[in-house]
Amino acid sequence: MKVLKEIQALQMISDYHRATFKTIGLVPTMGFLHEGHLALLEKAKQECDIVVVSIFVNPAQFLPHEDLDKYPRDFLRDYHLCNSSGVNYIFYPEPELMYPKDYFTFVNVEDITERLEGQFRPGHFKGVSTIVNKLINIVKPHKAYFGQKDAQQAVIIQKMVEDLNIDTEVIICNTIREENGLAKSSRNVYLSEEEKQEAAVIFEALTEGKKMITDYKITDTESVKNVVSNYINRKSDKIKLQYLSITDNVKMKELGNLKLYKGDIIISLAAYMGNTRLIDNVSFNYKYQ
Ligand code: PAF
Repeated sequence: MKVLKEIQALQMISDYHRATFKTIGLVPTMGFLHEGHLALLEKAKQECDIVVVSIFVNPAQFLPHEDLDKYPRDFLRDYHLCNSSGVNYIFYPEPELMYPKDYFTFVNVEDITERLEGQFRPGHFKGVSTIVNKLINIVKPHKAYFGQKDAQQAVIIQKMVEDLNIDTEVIICNTIREENGLAKSSRNVYLSEEEKQEAAVIFEALTEGKKMITDYKITDTESVKNVVSNYINRKSDKIKLQYLSITDNVKMKELGNLKLYKGDIIISLAAYMGNTRLIDNVSFNYKYQ
């Protein structure tokens, strides 16, 4: 496994592998890898000849008041995890290399970025689409792997790749969870053990919401949202919901009554546990009957 910090070196290596008909898989990360990332690596390893992991805490996707400085970092730990997962290259650039002085170009996916996360983190997705675009231009992967935990990010990246005719297949992999259901996230290090236990309520509530739709055939999404938020309020006084949405998985628009709806549904939310902001979602296919 090689660690590369230069853009041109990686571009040349990718050209070489492409010329010798090897398939390249990219797993973009911000480091501090957890089992969710390892599942992406495993999938990439199964499907591609060469696996590249990028480790870059992307300043452009953090708002000024967010946790850029304290975002967890541990390159040595990540290095060993990548090595034992069979990764071929780690791309580990310095921020100045990715955003040099007088950097002016950003990629902005419109509309879908304005709702849900976008409403509370304006500009976040512009930073995400820009860095993913840059990483794809540097690594030239046949496939790029992302987690379903960031449901809106997954939808936006797929749309960007489609709209900009980027020759990379986007693969979305299932959310990996703790035994109690808490979605794995690098930011979980901010939680105490007690908070981690209590945060299980989030996935329980989302699962209740899904059950209301799939098992109890409730079509009024407002009633479903009430069940989910009441569940959280009843079971935890520490978790404070920021938003709760029931949307489709293409435009991520709120769904009203589900009687006429057919397709994928995403129930997603953001909530604070103390100062830590957590996001999670459940997604499933739906047809009214
Ligand atoms: O999901 C993440 O970790 C980041 O948003 C990504 C895709 C690596 C871009 O910085």
